Amino acid sequence: LPYVGRLHNPLGPGRTVVVKGEVNQKAKSFKIDLKPSDSNIIALHLNPRIKSQVFVRNSYLYESWGEEERGLPDFPFSPGMYFEMIIYCGSHEYKVAVNGVHILDYKHRFKNLSEIKVLEINGNIQLLDVRSW
Ligand code: GAL
Repeated sequence: LPYVGRLHNPLGPGRTVVVKGEVNQKAKSFKIDLKPSDSNIIALHLNPRIKSQVFVRNSYLYESWGEEERGLPDFPFSPGMYFEMIIYCGSHEYKVAVNGVHILDYKHRFKNLSEIKVLEINGNIQLLDVRSW
């Protein structure tokens, strides 16, 4: 880490990314970002904060962070835990599942989905696998 993956085909509606990893024992946080290439825009910022047990979601557009989405019934990560995060891109929102359980939707803010070609992962995890289809 940091991991930067460049996708051959944009991550548009109907496509899925799966990230497998293990949260570090003393993890503070990690992030998974979906971005257009050659840009500082972040269409989707997924930022589980392990210490504070908050799963922050946001976008970085127009040179600034937007409003955070934080609500969840249960925080799905813990130190040392193995996880598989599935990020599905729908036509109106991303759908995110952790270990087989759908946990959140994130309505698209950055609408040019055909530009999303970069996946960045960073933070306090062991990254085991990244796949997309
Ligand atoms: C900030 C943090 C950024 C990002 C953002 C999301 O406080 O520094 O890395 O997580 O929140 O809203």
